[in-house]
Amino acid sequence: MSIDRTPTDSSKPLQSLEEWEDFVKERYPVPGQPAQDTVRKPTVGFDPEKKTEEFRNYEADARPTVREFYRLNHLHQTYEFGLAKRREFLGLNRMSMGVWEAAEYLNNLVDDSDPDTDMSQLEHLLQTAEQLRLDGKPRWMILTGFVHDLGKILCLWGEPQWAVVGDTFPTGCAYSDKIVFPRFFEANPDFSDSRFQTANGVYEPGCGLDAVNLSWGHDEYIYNVCKDYLPIEGLYMLRYHSFYPWHREAQYDHLCNDQDRRLLAAVKDFNPYDLYTKSHSKPDSKALRPFYEDLIREYFPEKIRW
Ligand SMILES: [Fe+2]
Ligand SMILES: [Fe+2]
Repeated sequence: MSIDRTPTDSSKPLQSLEEWEDFVKERYPVPGQPAQDTVRKPTVGFDPEKKTEEFRNYEADARPTVREFYRLNHLHQTYEFGLAKRREFLGLNRMSMGVWEAAEYLNNLVDDSDPDTDMSQLEHLLQTAEQLRLDGKPRWMILTGFVHDLGKILCLWGEPQWAVVGDTFPTGCAYSDKIVFPRFFEANPDFSDSRFQTANGVYEPGCGLDAVNLSWGHDEYIYNVCKDYLPIEGLYMLRYHSFYPWHREAQYDHLCNDQDRRLLAAVKDFNPYDLYTKSHSKPDSKALRPFYEDLIREYFPEKIRW
């Protein structure tokens, strides 16, 4: 199935899901390296001593497609929406398939070609996993890298991009202004509901992230698919890899418990492998398949529920 972009289709403002990821990567460049050459430096008050990233106004620099994507995401991701999608998808009664099979299935998600990345979904998974392997990470973590974006199969079931990808954030409590494009939240129905606009909102302080209804997307979905099979560190990597307000902006600690604080390090450890491995050479999926089939068998049954 091809996911084509048509200008009138508001479920697909992005030309490809990678457009969102490229934007995240520009916002969080590799430490010590300048941001990409799309950076526009201010012509007034330019201080050559300052690092490139200090100058960046990510919102002003965002492509119109990315801006529209975030507008829709912040508009529609309400507390109720997150609950409804969990009810709709977390019964895992759509398909039964193996993990490698799911990766091949996800490859049906063909985005319009993006000049920066013409990687397939499978290649991104393999690149992430191969870099973890190269760095001598444990086998469960390599496997976590391989499965981390399989939740994007939600797109193949007709879910709009803004309900599959995007930086995730807690619903049911006040929005951090460290979330990108915070002003778009003003149009979210929850914004004018006083129950949802205090620091803790509907939650007890320190309740733990497990009790928090994060905005819905591929992270929460793949966490639920894998939760019986991977170690807790891997499950945190899956569930919170797009929760940039937490793992990169240090927000929402008041909702965390000790387990969350302990496992934040694992989420941070994983993030560079997701974000910064894209420009490397293409992995050979045919040659790598036997290694990954073995690894999958170590942790997963032959078929799992999706
Ligand atoms: Fe992801
Ligand atoms: Fe990813």
